[in-house]
Amino acid sequence: RSQLRGDQVIVVSNREPYIHEKGKDGRVFVRRPASGLVTAVEPVMRACSGTWIAHGSGTADRKAVDRHDRVALPPGHEEYQLRRVWLSPEEEQGYYYGFANEGMWPLCHVAHVRPVFRESDWLYYKTVNQRFADAVVAEARSEDPVVLVQDYHFALLPAMVRRRLPRATILTFWHIPWPNPESFGICPWRQEILEGLLGSTIMGFHTRFHCKNFIEAVDRYLEARIEHEHSTISYKGEQTFIESYPISIEWPTRDSVSEWASPAECRRQVCELHDIPGHHRIAVGVDRFDYTKGILERLHAVERLLEKHPEWRGKFTFVQVAAPTRAALEEYQAFQQRIEQVTRRINERFSAGGREVVRLLAQHHEHEQVNRLYRAADVCLVTSLHDGMNLVCKEFVAARDDEQGVLVLSRFAGAARDMPEALIVNPYHVEEVADAIHRSLTMPPAEQRERMANLRSTVREFNVYRWAGKMLTDAARWRLRERISERV
Ligand code: G6P
Repeated sequence: RSQLRGDQVIVVSNREPYIHEKGKDGRVFVRRPASGLVTAVEPVMRACSGTWIAHGSGTADRKAVDRHDRVALPPGHEEYQLRRVWLSPEEEQGYYYGFANEGMWPLCHVAHVRPVFRESDWLYYKTVNQRFADAVVAEARSEDPVVLVQDYHFALLPAMVRRRLPRATILTFWHIPWPNPESFGICPWRQEILEGLLGSTIMGFHTRFHCKNFIEAVDRYLEARIEHEHSTISYKGEQTFIESYPISIEWPTRDSVSEWASPAECRRQVCELHDIPGHHRIAVGVDRFDYTKGILERLHAVERLLEKHPEWRGKFTFVQVAAPTRAALEEYQAFQQRIEQVTRRINERFSAGGREVVRLLAQHHEHEQVNRLYRAADVCLVTSLHDGMNLVCKEFVAARDDEQGVLVLSRFAGAARDMPEALIVNPYHVEEVADAIHRSLTMPPAEQRERMANLRSTVREFNVYRWAGKMLTDAARWRLRERISERV
């Protein structure tokens, strides 16, 4: 907040921080979506207030939740305004399911799913970006607001806003990886996408590696001037600063921690809820039901563990939370079916005493439920095939104030760079992941403590306020520079 000195902040994201749904009894209730973006941006917005513009997606009656395009947040979250942009079914299909999630998502993640590029989706993507840009202009109370643009849904919006509000400070953060120029180059609209993003004052990625890929793509596909030393790109008279800002989570406050049940109690509750024998060792995975998360490979690793180490049979349970996501897309439906099939097979092979060794919980879970699972677990498996950062690993660490529990982490998640105390694995290498699970389950408590204590101090220090703070400090510096150069 201190960085902003009263400047207006407008956030633009596809996913809304709260979804109003209508229950079976007709009553409206609020749900928090499973989204790394929301996990990170929401605490920042609570701290600096302002307006959050997002796609209205709940099943509740629009009018009931959205008088004059605005809706009050649930108690305790009134610090900022949420303005919803409602999309027609065709717009949602073309922009969100089509171009964003069948085009951009597989384009940017190396998960060996081919992107689909349809002209009609692209047209909806452009239209919806324009609608959100209009909403930003409508919300702006001055000619130079700070606009925080989030993610691959809005690659065209920065330039659209820049045209209407030339003095705005536009910070665009790309929450997913940025691929190498060859991979990116297959997109038929690569030039428009790069030009759209270069409307930003600052373009942020999780890692230096993604920044480098972006700069190389600009170098390859646009006539731009790149100053590597200052990490800036000049294009058509505008300058964009490219920087890495590793995203993180809000570290739990002492008050919230004091409300948590002890790890032993969490364990008792989890065992009771899922009918897991008390003496079992427990591994957990918590993901959206997405093909980039490596759930299939993880199941193969669990199967391999039980083949290689029969001593774990009847003494080990793997709980996989898989929050439904983008379920209207065929790729996601087929993926879910495949996971269910493999889960059944493993359960047929290894279940003991009538209890399944793999518990696949394909439902939405509230944060408190997930936190209880983290605290009950002996090991947390984060084995994404490719991930911009991944916040599940940071949430797991934050939940373990007992300094116990082992994190197994994919080397292809951005988080692996700053979390070397985890057991770092190649998620494609089934044998290696199986060995890492075994190693976790047999790791002495003292070694667990040493690793976990280090992980915790890193995440505590480099929390989400650092992420936002650094970006806003950089933005403040840019604003000042521009104001000074205007005076010259
Ligand atoms: C990733 C993306 C976010 C997105 C989230 C959930 O974290 O970077 O932009 O919100 O997945 O996906 P969904 O499609 O449900 O919003």
